[in-house]
Amino acid sequence: MSLIFGALTRLFAPFVWSSPRRAARMVHGFAHAERASVIDMQQAARHTPSPARAAQYLRHAADEWRHAQLFARLAHKLDAARSGPVHVDTEHLYDTLGEASFLAFVHMGEQRGRAQFDAHLAHLAGRAPLPGRPRAVIRGVLRDEHQHAAYTGALLDELEPRRGGLVARMARRQLWRQWLRAGRALSSGLYLVTGGLLYVLCAPLFTLLRPRG
Ligand SMILES: [Fe+2]
Ligand SMILES: [Fe+2]
Repeated sequence: MSLIFGALTRLFAPFVWSSPRRAARMVHGFAHAERASVIDMQQAARHTPSPARAAQYLRHAADEWRHAQLFARLAHKLDAARSGPVHVDTEHLYDTLGEASFLAFVHMGEQRGRAQFDAHLAHLAGRAPLPGRPRAVIRGVLRDEHQHAAYTGALLDELEPRRGGLVARMARRQLWRQWLRAGRALSSGLYLVTGGLLYVLCAPLFTLLRPRG
């Protein structure tokens, strides 16, 4: 699945990076995702029965916190209007999935993140530097994501030696989440477009409603 995300990112990267406003919006989205990961990893650290894994989850949470800060700052540098706090909620993934499935979910997320960041780096290579030095920021984050993918993969092997089915199930869950998110984004866009269209179409009616005298 990370191959698909990488290919899609390569396709859309020129469009996104051609506008500082669009780039800032995307990077702010990264900050949002990283911040959500902090909560997931902190919850995992609190609930795992293994103190060794709890320590790894807390280290992971600290990295994601740093990534969220870096991306929030970068978004602001790209477009000063794109600032402010990053609000997140939690889906209580550890509690609902259990540790092995949670790890499979996180592991896939890290692989997907790596593919996306790789694609952005490939696009930005050799181009004029942008405010906030996105290449340097993404390159730094990518190093951590490699480590996150490696250790979650190793833990997953320990907890679930036959992890194929688990990973496939989590891939389907992830696709479903993306689909719902895309649906939400599309429906709010459609609401704006149809609302605007109705407003324009109804404009002649206002002249009829004007009091004559
Ligand atoms: Fe991250
Ligand atoms: Fe990560």
